[in-house]
Amino acid sequence: MKKTSVLLTLLACTLGTASARDFAAIKASGTLVVGTEPTYAPFTYTQGKKIVGFEAELAEALAKRMGLKVEWKPSAFDTLLIGLNQDRFDMVIASHGITPERQKAVDFARPHYCSGGVILAPANGPLTVAALKGKTVAVQLGTTYAERAQSLPGLGSVKTYPNNAAALQMLLSKRVDAFITDRFVAIEGRKKFPQAKLKLGEMLFQEKIGIAVKKGNTTVTAAINTALGKMLADGSYKKLSEKYFGEDIRCK
Ligand code: ARG
Repeated sequence: MKKTSVLLTLLACTLGTASARDFAAIKASGTLVVGTEPTYAPFTYTQGKKIVGFEAELAEALAKRMGLKVEWKPSAFDTLLIGLNQDRFDMVIASHGITPERQKAVDFARPHYCSGGVILAPANGPLTVAALKGKTVAVQLGTTYAERAQSLPGLGSVKTYPNNAAALQMLLSKRVDAFITDRFVAIEGRKKFPQAKLKLGEMLFQEKIGIAVKKGNTTVTAAINTALGKMLADGSYKKLSEKYFGEDIRCK
């Protein structure tokens, strides 16, 4: 009997009958469980044990407006959307570009900023797509930058690293010629390591960044959109954005 029920539970899980918490269930618990990958300064990174950054503060402000506290669950970037569909998080805020492919797997809230992929390299390094011919380029696994780099013609090789910090480290130690990453992440890297004399090169594409929610979990997406809409309208988004970037980075 016991064996059978264990088997049934296992089967139910693999069939995906477990469902995500809707907004009412989250409200009742008082806690919003949020997935992120915190090596992505200035969006999400760690300060001691705390997760900080623009998206960390944004998530906490959104939760506050929903009457909730955030419980952070840091995870590898390439596992976040899968984890969302396995009900490990109520939402994921990790600078995901809203792509048609990802939209097949998850739902997105309205974009919370606009940015794009850029080449970061030493001042005398390859700063254009043309100059990347034959060169070695670092990217983070599972990102839109990895996908773009793999489709660029003539690259020497594309090296994939599990997190953003590791990829940046490879550029700093000159084991790669260039790093393709987010424009604001590149600006932050250049500021943080002035001795490396890094420069931002060609912008490869632009993207709208959004919070991901499990597909079909519409009450949660709606609650996020309402809270975000208020922050965009009442000046609190602008204030937070200016604190980190000196400008308002909302999609225009
Ligand atoms: N914007 C890129 C993408 O959508 C990279 C996001 C990486 N985020 C992170 N927390 N490491 O794939």
